[in-house]
Amino acid sequence: MSTKSYIYCDYAAGTPCRPEALAAFAEFATGHYANPGAHHPLAYIAKKHLYDLHDRMGRAIGADPREIVFTSGGTESDVLALRGMLAAAKAPRNELVISAIEHHAVLLEAQRLERAGARVHYAPVSADGVIELDALRRVVSERTALVSVMYANNETGVLQPVHEVAKIAHAAGAKYHCDAVQAFWKLPVNPKEIGADLLTLAGAKFGGPKGTGILYNEMTNRLAPVIIGGPQEWGYRAGTENLSGMAALAVAMELADAERERAWPRVEALRNRLEEMLSKALGDNVRINGAGAPRLPNISNISFLHIEGQAMAIQLGEAGYCVGLGSACAPGETDPSHVLAAMGLTWEDAIGCIRFSFGPDITDEQVNGLADLCVANYKHLRGLG
Ligand SMILES: Cc1ncc(COP(=O)(O)O)c(C=O)c1O
Repeated sequence: MSTKSYIYCDYAAGTPCRPEALAAFAEFATGHYANPGAHHPLAYIAKKHLYDLHDRMGRAIGADPREIVFTSGGTESDVLALRGMLAAAKAPRNELVISAIEHHAVLLEAQRLERAGARVHYAPVSADGVIELDALRRVVSERTALVSVMYANNETGVLQPVHEVAKIAHAAGAKYHCDAVQAFWKLPVNPKEIGADLLTLAGAKFGGPKGTGILYNEMTNRLAPVIIGGPQEWGYRAGTENLSGMAALAVAMELADAERERAWPRVEALRNRLEEMLSKALGDNVRINGAGAPRLPNISNISFLHIEGQAMAIQLGEAGYCVGLGSACAPGETDPSHVLAAMGLTWEDAIGCIRFSFGPDITDEQVNGLADLCVANYKHLRGLG
Protein backbone atom coordinates (compact mmCIF):
# COMPACT_ATOMS: atom_id res chain seq x y z
CA MET A 1 0.00 0.00 0.00
CA SER A 2 1.48 3.36 -0.93
CA THR A 3 1.33 6.01 1.82
CA LYS A 4 -1.03 7.94 -0.47
CA SER A 5 -3.76 5.34 -0.07
CA TYR A 6 -3.97 5.98 3.69
CA ILE A 7 -6.18 8.64 5.19
CA TYR A 8 -4.06 10.42 7.74
CA CYS A 9 -5.94 11.53 10.86
CA ASP A 10 -2.98 11.93 13.23
CA TYR A 11 -1.84 15.52 12.64
CA ALA A 12 -1.33 16.10 16.37
CA ALA A 13 1.47 13.53 16.24
CA GLY A 14 3.17 14.65 13.03
CA THR A 15 2.51 16.50 9.78
CA PRO A 16 3.82 16.13 6.23
CA CYS A 17 6.75 18.44 5.59
CA ARG A 18 5.76 21.24 3.22
CA PRO A 19 7.57 21.04 -0.16
CA GLU A 20 8.50 24.73 0.15
CA ALA A 21 10.17 24.00 3.51
CA LEU A 22 12.02 21.04 2.03
CA ALA A 23 13.20 23.22 -0.89
CA ALA A 24 14.53 25.82 1.55
CA PHE A 25 16.27 23.06 3.52
CA ALA A 26 17.99 21.76 0.37
CA GLU A 27 18.97 25.25 -0.80
CA PHE A 28 20.68 26.02 2.49
CA ALA A 29 22.24 22.57 2.92
CA THR A 30 23.96 22.79 -0.45
CA GLY A 31 24.39 26.56 -0.82
CA HIS A 32 25.15 27.81 2.69
CA TYR A 33 27.15 25.01 4.25
CA ALA A 34 29.85 27.19 5.78
CA ASN A 35 29.99 27.35 9.55
CA PRO A 36 28.63 30.80 10.53
CA GLY A 37 31.19 30.92 13.35
CA ALA A 38 34.16 30.74 10.95
CA HIS A 39 36.09 33.71 9.55
CA HIS A 40 35.98 33.84 5.75
CA PRO A 41 33.59 35.24 3.14
CA LEU A 42 31.27 32.22 2.95
CA ALA A 43 31.03 32.13 6.75
CA TYR A 44 30.10 35.84 6.80
CA ILE A 45 27.34 35.18 4.26
CA ALA A 46 26.10 32.25 6.39
CA LYS A 47 26.19 34.49 9.49
CA LYS A 48 24.06 37.09 7.73
CA HIS A 49 21.53 34.38 6.83
CA LEU A 50 21.60 33.13 10.42
CA TYR A 51 20.47 36.53 11.64
CA ASP A 52 17.88 36.92 8.85
CA LEU A 53 16.39 33.50 9.64
CA HIS A 54 16.08 34.36 13.33
CA ASP A 55 14.41 37.57 12.24
CA ARG A 56 11.88 35.68 10.08
CA MET A 57 11.15 33.06 12.75
CA GLY A 58 10.74 35.85 15.29
CA ARG A 59 8.47 37.94 13.09
CA ALA A 60 6.10 35.00 12.63
CA ILE A 61 5.32 35.15 16.36
CA GLY A 62 5.90 38.87 17.00
CA ALA A 63 9.31 38.37 18.63
CA ASP A 64 12.76 39.90 18.28
CA PRO A 65 15.41 37.74 16.54
CA ARG A 66 17.42 37.65 19.78
CA GLU A 67 14.45 36.04 21.52
CA ILE A 68 14.53 32.99 19.24
CA VAL A 69 16.55 29.96 20.33
CA PHE A 70 16.50 27.31 17.61
CA THR A 71 16.23 23.75 19.01
CA SER A 72 15.59 20.18 17.87
CA GLY A 73 11.86 20.37 18.66
CA GLY A 74 9.27 20.56 21.39
CA THR A 75 10.95 18.26 23.88
CA GLU A 76 14.26 20.08 23.86
CA SER A 77 12.56 23.49 24.11
CA ASP A 78 10.43 22.36 27.05
CA VAL A 79 13.40 20.85 28.87
CA LEU A 80 15.52 23.96 28.26
CA ALA A 81 12.73 26.17 29.60
CA LEU A 82 12.22 24.19 32.82
CA ARG A 83 15.76 23.07 33.58
CA GLY A 84 17.28 26.33 32.38
CA MET A 85 14.96 28.50 34.46
CA LEU A 86 15.22 26.46 37.64
CA ALA A 87 19.02 26.36 37.36
CA ALA A 88 19.20 30.14 36.85
CA ALA A 89 16.62 30.98 39.53
CA LYS A 90 17.75 32.77 42.68
CA ALA A 91 16.61 31.82 46.20
CA PRO A 92 13.93 31.87 47.49
CA ARG A 93 12.51 31.17 44.00
CA ASN A 94 13.14 27.46 43.63
CA GLU A 95 9.64 26.09 43.00
CA LEU A 96 8.00 25.00 39.76
CA VAL A 97 4.27 24.90 39.02
CA ILE A 98 2.87 22.89 36.10
CA SER A 99 -0.60 21.71 35.16
CA ALA A 100 -1.53 18.06 35.62
CA ILE A 101 -2.01 17.67 31.85
CA GLU A 102 1.34 18.83 30.48
CA HIS A 103 3.06 16.83 27.76
CA HIS A 104 5.58 14.24 28.96
CA ALA A 105 8.39 16.58 27.87
CA VAL A 106 7.33 18.97 30.67
CA LEU A 107 5.96 16.38 33.10
CA LEU A 108 8.98 14.11 33.18
CA GLU A 109 11.44 17.02 33.40
CA ALA A 110 9.39 18.39 36.31
CA GLN A 111 9.59 14.99 38.01
CA ARG A 112 13.34 14.90 37.39
CA LEU A 113 13.73 18.35 38.95
CA GLU A 114 11.64 17.14 41.88
CA ARG A 115 13.97 14.18 42.42
CA ALA A 116 16.87 16.64 42.29
CA GLY A 117 15.32 18.59 45.20
CA ALA A 118 13.04 21.22 43.63
CA ARG A 119 9.49 21.57 44.92
CA VAL A 120 6.94 21.00 42.16
CA HIS A 121 3.21 21.76 42.36
CA TYR A 122 0.75 20.11 39.97
CA ALA A 123 -2.34 22.26 39.31
CA PRO A 124 -5.49 20.17 38.71
CA VAL A 125 -7.90 20.46 35.76
CA SER A 126 -11.70 20.36 35.47
CA ALA A 127 -13.61 17.39 34.03
CA ASP A 128 -13.30 19.13 30.64
CA GLY A 129 -9.54 19.36 30.98
CA VAL A 130 -9.15 23.09 31.72
CA ILE A 131 -6.71 24.17 34.44
CA GLU A 132 -8.39 25.25 37.70
CA LEU A 133 -7.26 28.86 38.07
CA ASP A 134 -8.14 29.11 41.77
CA ALA A 135 -6.06 26.04 42.50
CA LEU A 136 -3.24 27.56 40.44
CA ARG A 137 -3.44 30.81 42.45
CA ARG A 138 -3.10 28.83 45.68
CA VAL A 139 0.24 27.25 44.71
CA VAL A 140 1.93 30.17 42.91
CA SER A 141 3.89 32.27 45.40
CA GLU A 142 7.02 34.34 45.97
CA ARG A 143 8.88 31.00 45.96
CA THR A 144 7.78 30.15 42.40
CA ALA A 145 10.49 30.43 39.77
CA LEU A 146 8.41 29.20 36.83
CA VAL A 147 4.83 28.35 35.92
CA SER A 148 4.50 26.03 32.89
CA VAL A 149 1.04 25.58 31.40
CA MET A 150 0.44 24.53 27.79
CA TYR A 151 -1.69 26.46 25.28
CA ALA A 152 -3.59 23.47 23.83
CA ASN A 153 -3.52 19.93 25.09
CA ASN A 154 -2.08 17.39 22.67
CA GLU A 155 -4.55 14.63 23.56
CA THR A 156 -7.84 16.52 23.78
CA GLY A 157 -7.12 19.80 21.96
CA VAL A 158 -8.57 21.65 24.97
CA LEU A 159 -7.36 25.26 25.16
CA GLN A 160 -6.00 26.63 28.41
CA PRO A 161 -6.65 30.18 29.70
CA VAL A 162 -3.07 31.20 28.98
CA HIS A 163 -3.60 34.96 29.42
CA GLU A 164 -4.97 34.37 32.93
CA VAL A 165 -2.15 31.96 33.74
CA ALA A 166 0.41 34.59 32.68
CA LYS A 167 -1.24 37.17 34.95
CA ILE A 168 -1.23 34.80 37.93
CA ALA A 169 2.45 33.97 37.41
CA HIS A 170 3.46 37.60 37.00
CA ALA A 171 1.43 38.80 39.99
CA ALA A 172 3.67 36.58 42.12
CA GLY A 173 6.83 37.72 40.30
CA ALA A 174 7.26 34.30 38.63
CA LYS A 175 8.01 33.63 34.93
CA TYR A 176 5.58 31.89 32.61
CA HIS A 177 6.45 29.16 30.09
CA CYS A 178 3.80 28.20 27.53
CA ASP A 179 4.10 24.99 25.47
CA ALA A 180 2.33 26.13 22.30
CA VAL A 181 3.34 23.10 20.20
CA GLN A 182 -0.24 22.13 19.31
CA ALA A 183 -1.68 25.66 19.13
CA PHE A 184 0.59 27.20 16.49
CA TRP A 185 -0.87 27.03 12.96
CA LYS A 186 -4.43 26.62 14.27
CA LEU A 187 -4.35 29.78 16.41
CA PRO A 188 -2.35 33.00 16.25
CA VAL A 189 0.51 32.56 18.73
CA ASN A 190 2.26 35.68 19.97
CA PRO A 191 4.15 35.27 23.27
CA LYS A 192 4.10 39.00 24.04
CA GLU A 193 0.35 39.17 23.57
CA ILE A 194 -0.12 36.06 25.74
CA GLY A 195 2.30 37.35 28.37
CA ALA A 196 4.61 34.33 28.09
CA ASP A 197 8.27 34.77 29.05
CA LEU A 198 9.13 31.48 27.37
CA LEU A 199 7.24 29.63 24.64
CA THR A 200 7.81 26.32 22.87
CA LEU A 201 7.11 25.47 19.20
CA ALA A 202 7.87 22.30 17.21
CA GLY A 203 8.25 22.44 13.41
CA ALA A 204 6.99 18.89 12.87
CA LYS A 205 3.49 19.93 14.02
CA PHE A 206 2.93 22.52 11.31
CA GLY A 207 4.66 21.28 8.17
CA GLY A 208 8.28 21.90 9.12
CA PRO A 209 10.84 19.10 9.16
CA LYS A 210 11.19 16.82 12.19
CA GLY A 211 14.07 17.88 14.41
CA THR A 212 13.28 21.61 14.28
CA GLY A 213 11.80 23.78 17.00
CA ILE A 214 11.98 27.05 18.87
CA LEU A 215 12.20 28.24 22.40
CA TYR A 216 11.10 31.87 22.58
CA ASN A 217 12.98 33.45 25.46
CA GLU A 218 11.97 37.00 26.36
CA MET A 219 14.88 39.42 25.94
CA THR A 220 15.51 40.17 29.61
CA ASN A 221 15.11 36.56 30.72
CA ARG A 222 18.26 34.64 31.64
CA LEU A 223 18.44 30.85 31.28
CA ALA A 224 21.14 28.35 32.15
CA PRO A 225 21.91 26.38 28.95
CA VAL A 226 21.32 22.64 28.92
CA ILE A 227 23.62 21.84 25.98
CA ILE A 228 26.92 23.55 26.69
CA GLY A 229 29.97 24.12 24.52
CA GLY A 230 30.12 26.87 21.89
CA PRO A 231 28.38 30.25 22.14
CA GLN A 232 25.69 29.55 19.53
CA GLU A 233 22.04 30.62 19.86
CA TRP A 234 22.86 33.55 22.16
CA GLY A 235 24.72 31.18 24.46
CA TYR A 236 21.62 29.09 25.17
CA ARG A 237 22.29 26.09 22.92
CA ALA A 238 25.76 25.04 21.84
CA GLY A 239 26.58 23.34 18.55
CA THR A 240 27.10 24.39 14.94
CA GLU A 241 23.89 26.01 13.77
CA ASN A 242 21.43 24.01 11.65
CA LEU A 243 20.93 26.74 9.07
CA SER A 244 18.99 24.44 6.73
CA GLY A 245 16.60 23.44 9.52
CA MET A 246 16.10 27.10 10.39
CA ALA A 247 15.41 28.02 6.75
CA ALA A 248 12.82 25.24 6.50
CA LEU A 249 11.25 26.21 9.81
CA ALA A 250 11.01 29.88 8.84
CA VAL A 251 9.18 28.94 5.61
CA ALA A 252 6.85 26.55 7.45
CA MET A 253 6.01 29.22 10.04
CA GLU A 254 5.25 31.83 7.37
CA LEU A 255 3.03 29.45 5.40
CA ALA A 256 1.24 28.24 8.54
CA ASP A 257 0.55 31.84 9.52
CA ALA A 258 -0.69 32.76 6.05
CA GLU A 259 -3.18 29.88 5.71
CA ARG A 260 -4.57 29.80 9.24
CA GLU A 261 -7.86 31.57 8.69
CA ARG A 262 -8.55 29.75 5.45
CA ALA A 263 -7.64 26.23 6.54
CA TRP A 264 -9.37 25.48 9.81
CA PRO A 265 -13.07 26.51 9.83
CA ARG A 266 -13.91 23.75 7.33
CA VAL A 267 -11.90 21.21 9.34
CA GLU A 268 -13.70 22.25 12.50
CA ALA A 269 -17.07 21.70 10.84
CA LEU A 270 -15.97 18.20 9.75
CA ARG A 271 -14.61 17.40 13.22
CA ASN A 272 -17.98 18.45 14.67
CA ARG A 273 -19.79 16.35 12.11
CA LEU A 274 -17.79 13.25 13.09
CA GLU A 275 -18.73 13.79 16.73
CA GLU A 276 -22.40 14.34 15.87
CA MET A 277 -22.56 11.21 13.71
CA LEU A 278 -20.94 9.05 16.39
CA SER A 279 -23.10 10.45 19.18
CA LYS A 280 -26.25 9.92 17.11
CA ALA A 281 -25.38 6.33 16.20
CA LEU A 282 -23.80 5.17 19.45
CA GLY A 283 -25.48 7.38 22.08
CA ASP A 284 -24.11 6.86 25.59
CA ASN A 285 -21.51 4.43 24.31
CA VAL A 286 -19.30 7.30 23.26
CA ARG A 287 -17.99 10.21 25.30
CA ILE A 288 -16.29 13.20 23.73
CA ASN A 289 -13.56 14.23 26.11
CA GLY A 290 -13.21 17.98 26.61
CA ALA A 291 -16.29 18.77 24.49
CA GLY A 292 -17.54 21.34 27.01
CA ALA A 293 -14.39 23.48 26.72
CA PRO A 294 -12.94 25.62 23.93
CA ARG A 295 -10.84 23.30 21.75
CA LEU A 296 -8.53 23.31 18.75
CA PRO A 297 -10.54 22.94 15.53
CA ASN A 298 -8.99 19.66 14.42
CA ILE A 299 -8.80 17.34 17.44
CA SER A 300 -11.47 15.02 18.76
CA ASN A 301 -10.74 12.73 21.70
CA ILE A 302 -13.42 10.09 21.94
CA SER A 303 -13.89 7.33 24.52
CA PHE A 304 -15.61 4.31 23.00
CA LEU A 305 -16.95 2.71 26.15
CA HIS A 306 -16.58 -1.02 26.92
CA ILE A 307 -14.01 -1.69 24.18
CA GLU A 308 -10.26 -1.22 23.85
CA GLY A 309 -9.24 1.75 21.73
CA GLN A 310 -6.35 -0.25 20.35
CA ALA A 311 -8.75 -2.79 18.81
CA MET A 312 -10.68 0.05 17.14
CA ALA A 313 -7.46 1.72 15.94
CA ILE A 314 -6.22 -1.53 14.38
CA GLN A 315 -9.50 -2.05 12.53
CA LEU A 316 -9.52 1.55 11.31
CA GLY A 317 -5.91 1.12 10.22
CA GLU A 318 -6.82 -1.97 8.19
CA ALA A 319 -9.43 0.14 6.41
CA GLY A 320 -6.78 2.80 5.67
CA TYR A 321 -7.44 5.34 8.46
CA CYS A 322 -4.45 6.37 10.62
CA VAL A 323 -5.66 7.58 14.02
CA GLY A 324 -4.02 8.27 17.38
CA LEU A 325 -4.27 6.19 20.52
CA GLY A 326 -4.06 8.43 23.56
CA SER A 327 -0.75 10.26 23.36
CA ALA A 328 1.49 9.32 20.46
CA CYS A 329 4.49 10.49 22.46
CA ALA A 330 4.20 7.50 24.81
CA PRO A 331 4.53 4.51 22.49
CA GLY A 332 3.85 1.15 24.03
CA GLU A 333 2.23 2.56 27.14
CA THR A 334 -0.70 0.59 28.43
CA ASP A 335 -1.52 2.79 31.42
CA PRO A 336 -4.36 5.22 30.75
CA SER A 337 -3.07 8.66 29.87
CA HIS A 338 -2.27 11.02 32.74
CA VAL A 339 -4.32 13.67 30.90
CA LEU A 340 -7.53 11.63 30.89
CA ALA A 341 -6.87 10.48 34.46
CA ALA A 342 -6.50 14.14 35.55
CA MET A 343 -9.89 14.83 33.92
CA GLY A 344 -11.39 12.14 36.13
CA LEU A 345 -11.84 9.36 33.58
CA THR A 346 -11.73 5.86 34.97
CA TRP A 347 -9.34 3.29 33.55
CA GLU A 348 -12.28 1.63 31.74
CA ASP A 349 -13.34 4.91 30.07
CA ALA A 350 -9.81 5.91 29.14
CA ILE A 351 -8.77 2.59 27.66
CA GLY A 352 -11.32 2.89 24.84
CA CYS A 353 -10.04 6.28 23.80
CA ILE A 354 -9.09 7.34 20.27
CA ARG A 355 -7.62 10.69 19.25
CA PHE A 356 -8.64 11.88 15.80
CA SER A 357 -6.61 14.86 14.59
CA PHE A 358 -7.30 16.14 11.10
CA GLY A 359 -5.25 18.21 8.69
CA PRO A 360 -6.44 20.78 6.15
CA ASP A 361 -6.60 18.04 3.48
CA ILE A 362 -9.42 16.04 5.11
CA THR A 363 -12.57 15.69 2.97
CA ASP A 364 -16.30 15.30 3.63
CA GLU A 365 -16.32 11.79 2.18
CA GLN A 366 -13.40 10.71 4.33
CA VAL A 367 -15.10 11.90 7.52
CA ASN A 368 -18.40 10.27 6.56
CA GLY A 369 -16.55 7.03 5.83
CA LEU A 370 -14.67 7.26 9.11
CA ALA A 371 -17.85 7.74 11.13
CA ASP A 372 -19.55 4.78 9.41
CA LEU A 373 -16.52 2.57 10.00
CA CYS A 374 -16.29 3.54 13.67
CA VAL A 375 -19.94 2.66 14.19
CA ALA A 376 -19.63 -0.68 12.35
CA ASN A 377 -16.39 -1.59 14.16
CA TYR A 378 -17.80 -0.63 17.53
CA LYS A 379 -20.87 -2.82 17.03
CA HIS A 380 -18.67 -5.67 15.82
CA LEU A 381 -16.30 -5.39 18.82
CA ARG A 382 -19.22 -5.37 21.23
CA GLY A 383 -21.04 -8.14 19.40
CA LEU A 384 -24.00 -5.83 18.86
CA GLY A 385 -25.13 -7.27 15.55
C1 LIG B 1 2.19 19.70 23.50
C2 LIG B 1 3.46 19.03 23.10
N1 LIG B 1 4.61 19.40 23.68
C3 LIG B 1 5.80 18.86 23.34
C4 LIG B 1 5.87 17.86 22.40
C5 LIG B 1 7.19 17.25 22.05
O1 LIG B 1 7.60 17.74 20.79
P1 LIG B 1 8.72 16.98 19.92
O2 LIG B 1 8.16 15.68 19.53
O3 LIG B 1 8.96 17.93 18.77
O4 LIG B 1 9.94 16.86 20.76
C6 LIG B 1 4.69 17.41 21.77
C7 LIG B 1 4.71 16.30 20.80
O5 LIG B 1 3.72 15.73 20.46
C8 LIG B 1 3.46 18.03 22.13
O6 LIG B 1 2.32 17.66 21.55
